[in-house]
Amino acid sequence: EKGNHRHFMEKEIYEQPIVVAQTLGAYVDPLAETISLPPLPFDLAGVKRVQIVACGTALLAGQVATYWLESLARIPVQIENASEFRYRDPVYEPGGLALFISQSGETADTLAALRHAKAGGQHIAAVVNVASSTMAREADLLLPTHAGPEIGVASTKAFTCQLAVLAAFAIALGKAKGRVTPVEEARLVHLLTEIPAAMNEALKTEESIHALALPLSKARDILYIGRGPDYPMALEGALKLKEISYIHAEGYAAGELKHGPIALIDENVPVIVIAPSGPRFEKTVSNMQEVMARGGLVYLLSDAAGLAEHGAGTAATIEMPSVDPFISPLITAIPVQLLAYHVALAKGTDVDQPRNLAKSVTVE
Ligand code: M6R
Repeated sequence: EKGNHRHFMEKEIYEQPIVVAQTLGAYVDPLAETISLPPLPFDLAGVKRVQIVACGTALLAGQVATYWLESLARIPVQIENASEFRYRDPVYEPGGLALFISQSGETADTLAALRHAKAGGQHIAAVVNVASSTMAREADLLLPTHAGPEIGVASTKAFTCQLAVLAAFAIALGKAKGRVTPVEEARLVHLLTEIPAAMNEALKTEESIHALALPLSKARDILYIGRGPDYPMALEGALKLKEISYIHAEGYAAGELKHGPIALIDENVPVIVIAPSGPRFEKTVSNMQEVMARGGLVYLLSDAAGLAEHGAGTAATIEMPSVDPFISPLITAIPVQLLAYHVALAKGTDVDQPRNLAKSVTVE
């Protein structure tokens, strides 16, 4: 039931600190500061490459994970949406791990891709929320998320739980490949344990986001930009907004803007800039300034330090807690979800049951 919340989506956004903690609890030993995975039917150290396949928001969780997997395990990672994957006639090599991500565990394209990769001799891992689902049964290695039932069609808590599992898996793979030392593992695990409290902080952005919703709800197009893992977060922001508010939205890699999309910018186009402090901040800010120079309305999502440095001249700022870049996608997710939710409320759309969409897509 919805409890005190107006919609399942709002309830599920607010559940995230708890369900992410629950999910991490299945992978993390907080005292030993180590990761443990369920029993493995194959040797993780022998994994030579990872192919991620999923749809929609689950695909975007996978896209964030590509950064973690490549930086921690130093093996090649590819990602593709499930509806296209088989049409590439993918090349399967020994030692390949195919990793499927799905809330429902029933999405037709993802399931078909899983069976294709299995027939191709790949090890199959699946990050799945519904434990009794077909994908959960057919995977060699099931990596469950413990988000509980997700009712809202727009995925929120399943997404952040997927990120939590993928971050833990990346650490485990890095360790198995001899790339993550025990000291580094302890540092990363400690960061994971900080996520729930930082998520609670991030939920406090709701009031400032509510104040932006009415003007944003009048926009015809909204762009989201980010760099590195903030790029898939920009894609996720745009997907969430399109899905429930029906406003046309696009996510772009911040540096790609000047290769075309910047032609869209005028004083009517809001641009949500996802730029937490860290290694990519200055470059994203310079892309933000290119937007401002063309009259675009910039909404900057950053932490206190980032906003103090570059918040001036924007249409509005959203302050998220300051966290290590390793965990920032899980924290950024919250204001991104709240923004879509409040814009949809301002538009009066059916948040939990958006038009034309189904919770589980069981046709190809
Ligand atoms: O059940 P799955 O995770 O496999 O579903 C994948 C997509 O259909 C799903 O994430 C969809 O994009 C959501 N409605 C996004 O909010």
